[in-house]
Amino acid sequence: EEKFTSTFRKGYVTINGHMFPKRYEELKEGFDNLEVSDEDVWICSFPKTGTTWTQEMVWMIVNNLDFKEGEINLGIRSPFLELSIIFDYRDMLKNNPNFDPPMFLQNSLEFVKTLKSPICMKTHLPYECLPKDIQAGRKNPKMIYVVRDPKDTCISYFHHCKLMEGFRGDFEEFCELFLAGKVNFGPFWKHVLTYWEKRNSPNFLFLKYEDMKKDLSKVIRQVAQFLERPLSDEKVEILTKHLSFESMKNNPAVNYGMVCDLNKKFKLIEHDGAFMRSGKVGGHKEVMSEEMIRKFDDWIKRNVEGTDYVI
Ligand code: A3P
Repeated sequence: EEKFTSTFRKGYVTINGHMFPKRYEELKEGFDNLEVSDEDVWICSFPKTGTTWTQEMVWMIVNNLDFKEGEINLGIRSPFLELSIIFDYRDMLKNNPNFDPPMFLQNSLEFVKTLKSPICMKTHLPYECLPKDIQAGRKNPKMIYVVRDPKDTCISYFHHCKLMEGFRGDFEEFCELFLAGKVNFGPFWKHVLTYWEKRNSPNFLFLKYEDMKKDLSKVIRQVAQFLERPLSDEKVEILTKHLSFESMKNNPAVNYGMVCDLNKKFKLIEHDGAFMRSGKVGGHKEVMSEEMIRKFDDWIKRNVEGTDYVI
């Protein structure tokens, strides 16, 4: 934990068996009691599994490929419910009293409450931490969960924590934290498997990053069908191009350039890099030692055993 020396960090809490930044405590009641609408779409995931990719896909489908509106920052079009537990702008204010960030950065929960349905909500909250409306089945928004190979997820998360959260340890250290579930929203398998159990509910769709890489058009059709907003072949083709890695990397509305610039401007983070990093499947083979791969494989086997999860 001491490796996360960012100014964002004032410690951690464990809630429902998952690790969160301490600010979760302050906002928990608000998340629990959030009013949900049946018209909303929830994009749920463990960090670094293709959330942004899925958000842009879902938003575009829900909004019939409105590329003009799509120029607005994705953080506004598809809000990150618990952003404020990770990104606490009050820390920035201390040294920069004139800093006046947009509302979605100030208080993500209050921002979400100002939005009208259908909201394309992004959350990394584990199932057990979702609003009571959803857990009690009082409201049934469409739920999409995206998952990714945990080895690739771990590498992506390592770079993310260096880029966004001031992590100062090396990759091996990060892997150990990841395996131990000691990263934000961890442990990984508890997160994934609880959602996996819900996958056959009619309002639920479970996606894999690897399937999106293999045949994006197919996944777009599947998601469009699920959202009851089927697309013409022509639109599927246009959206497939729009969602390519290169296109998203160069799209300022989705590539987190604004947040990276803020981090740099306020000298919160020394590390340089891009949110849209490499977008590959199997990238772990290039950077993980054989021993670490073995550790991960054992850990995967142990966690998946006794479930019907298909890797
Ligand atoms: P890498 O760090 O492996 O490149 P999230 O949005 O959940 O934080 O996930 C981020 C990961 O998704 C990053 O992985 C990012 O590059 C990848 N990603 C984002 N858009 C993508 C796209 N259009 N195609 C492939 N990968 C994408």
